[in-house]
Amino acid sequence: MSSVLTIRGGVPLAGRVTVRGAKNLVPKAMVAALLGNEPSVLRNVPEIKDVEVVTSLLQLHGVTVEKDPVTGDLTLDPTKAKTASHTAIDAHAGDSRIPILLCGPLIHAIGEAFIPDLGGCKIGDRPIDYHLNVLRQFGAVVEKRPGGIHISAPDGLKGAKISLPYPSVGATEQVLLSATRAEGITELSGAATEPEIVDLIAVLQKMGAIISVQTDRTIRIEGVPDLGGYNHRALSDRNESASWASAALVTRGDIFVEGATQRDMMTFLNTYRKVGGGMDIGDDGIRFYHKGGKLNPLVLETDVHPGFMTDWQQPLIVALTQAEGVSIVHETVYENRFGFTEALIRMGANIQVHRECLGSVPCRFGQRNFLHSAVISGPTQLTGADIDVPDLRGGFSHLIAALAANGTSRVTGIDIINRGYERFTEKLAGLGADFDITAAK
Ligand code: EPZ
Repeated sequence: MSSVLTIRGGVPLAGRVTVRGAKNLVPKAMVAALLGNEPSVLRNVPEIKDVEVVTSLLQLHGVTVEKDPVTGDLTLDPTKAKTASHTAIDAHAGDSRIPILLCGPLIHAIGEAFIPDLGGCKIGDRPIDYHLNVLRQFGAVVEKRPGGIHISAPDGLKGAKISLPYPSVGATEQVLLSATRAEGITELSGAATEPEIVDLIAVLQKMGAIISVQTDRTIRIEGVPDLGGYNHRALSDRNESASWASAALVTRGDIFVEGATQRDMMTFLNTYRKVGGGMDIGDDGIRFYHKGGKLNPLVLETDVHPGFMTDWQQPLIVALTQAEGVSIVHETVYENRFGFTEALIRMGANIQVHRECLGSVPCRFGQRNFLHSAVISGPTQLTGADIDVPDLRGGFSHLIAALAANGTSRVTGIDIINRGYERFTEKLAGLGADFDITAAK
């Protein structure tokens, strides 16, 4: 049943939230368990929709997934993996993109995979060409079928020398999950090296994989015939942590984010400080707060790690609507990630989006008609409005804009936010937000 949030704005968020395992690692670590010949244990698992989707997909393929009722830790046993019906897979895939990462592990486990046409946030075309090219280079046969793609490898997967046209996180994970048990050596140049990638490598190394990340972003994998299980505590979600940090600025509040990890947020913390945000960095988390003075505008360019992470820009843009002056955000990872600004403009924000690369370097999207640069002028008073959430991070941005706005906002489509923000309405209530949840009519 979809819900409607009625938010009465103007209340600074103050208090403590706990951020657990990263949405962009946990489902991948669950998939990696399929590669093992014995059970694995995954800890620090958040209760989010993406975990539910992967749990049901794995169970469909004969993997038992047990959740500890107290800790939420998952025990995954892949020893009875089996094929599943295409219709069942399609019904369970939901709007997640994770199913594409099941290819390598399923081919190693049962010799084939069927991947339904994928979902994911509407922030661009979200193609999977890199993934399919990688699988073909490992020797897989990729066939388009009604409703999805069938992948098989009659002779098994063989190591390959692969170069990615762009440091894609998903394609890098595709290589890692396929190469660890492939025959021979795989060398991946132009790899993504995000913290979630490094944590997945840690998971695979615990299972017995031989993987090295070299100085020039080349990842080298020596295939091994068998892998064992793992016992791993997932790294915390730096994107959720950054979202709460932006919420503290936007609502002029003060939020301690337990689990926020400086090591994975260095670039964000530098930017947060330049905008004028206050922070106290501790061992068990980070306190983010509005210092009471004005916020500073800035010029920002998103990039792959260790650059400014694309998932951080949407909530931060809401804070930039309150900065005194003109800010520029050049989004270089996704071609269409500013759709969420439409609702902010209706609420009173002054934002223009442009086709030009308004950053230090021209990116892949320049002169291709993508509105991928934004100019934000502030400060502007936000006023409550009716909002329908467009995507995960844009949806969180709308929530914090409504929390800071004068008046009342009605926010629909909030179920998308459950994909990546664990118990977010409970957390909002705990921080003093003034809202009601009602069932949509
Ligand atoms: C992961 O998406 C994350 N999602 C995204 O987080 C994150 O923004 C992104 O990495 C970049 O860090 C998960 O991990 C589940 P990509 P992914 O492959 O792997 C293009 C969030 O809000 N591309 O690095 O799908 C693609 O279109 C989400 O938590 C191809 O062209 O991202 C994009 O422009 C949003 N062909 C660029 O590469 C391909 O085959 C980066 O995509 C694959 C990707």
